Amino acid sequence: MIGPKLGAGREAEVFAWGRDAVVKLYRPGFRGHEAEAAALRHLEGHGVAPSLIQVVDHDRRRGLVLERLDGSNMLTLLQRQPWRLPNLARHLARAHLRIHAIEAPEDLPDLRDVLATRIHRAPMPSKLREFALRELSTLPRGDRLAHGDFHPGNLLVARDEVTVIDWVGATRGAPEADHARTLLLLRWADPLPGTPPLARGLMATGRSAFARAYAGYYRNGKSRPAMQLSSWLTVVVAARMSEGIEAEHRKLLSLLEAARRREGRGA
Ligand SMILES: Nc1ncnc2c1ncn2[C@@H]1O[C@H](COP(=O)(O)OP(=O)(O)O)[C@@H](O)[C@H]1O
Ligand SMILES: [Mg+2]
Repeated sequence: MIGPKLGAGREAEVFAWGRDAVVKLYRPGFRGHEAEAAALRHLEGHGVAPSLIQVVDHDRRRGLVLERLDGSNMLTLLQRQPWRLPNLARHLARAHLRIHAIEAPEDLPDLRDVLATRIHRAPMPSKLREFALRELSTLPRGDRLAHGDFHPGNLLVARDEVTVIDWVGATRGAPEADHARTLLLLRWADPLPGTPPLARGLMATGRSAFARAYAGYYRNGKSRPAMQLSSWLTVVVAARMSEGIEAEHRKLLSLLEAARRREGRGA
């Protein structure tokens, strides 16, 4: 049944499964399949995510059998066909707005609780941690479906059909938090290790234009303006530090320090 490997990340590997499906096999000790399965069950019929066909155990690992999707991920498309940038940014924003229009199932973790745990775990000076937790305490809980890691690498594009994959970080919360996390990833996340210098250079120029275009389409597609976005940005930056990405550490720290200085000035 199991076929060639199609992709791999920190938490799971994805293999072909029969002709029309894939299996996402989680590495031992990772429990992201629980949130991913809950989100996918809830999204069945919405046309936003692949169908969850079955939950299996393979080689003593938990696996989700998913509908197999055609197409390339949006990150690859951006690198190969940069002229499509505005259109892809529009698709990214639209898909995000569609997700945020959906009420989350109750069995998903609460987004604020997840952020608080991550901020407690992240390495940073205690003054900054207290500041980030204080900001978090002013922010609302929310009841929307949040993806948790919504970036172009987690969207598959086939012609003009866009499907969102990789729901291991799905939570229930305020859409602004999920939007802020995407802005953070687009603006500041370090490219994967091994990215050649030339590709890094191209990404550096393209990414700010892409982030601006995505932000504009997201804003225009909403009936109400995003609330307390700068506080959410502070909080997701602090939580990001728990991921231990060495190349980002100084940038994230300086963003937090700047936010704290702004607060001190009463801005
Ligand atoms: N339903 C699917 N259909 C086709 N390919 C998929 C599907 N789900 C995942 N993949 C492939 O596997 C890769 C990794 O999947 P993803 O869910 O993002 O896991 P992770 O990032 O944790 O490794 C994707 O980039 C894509 O190439
Ligand atoms: Mg992924």
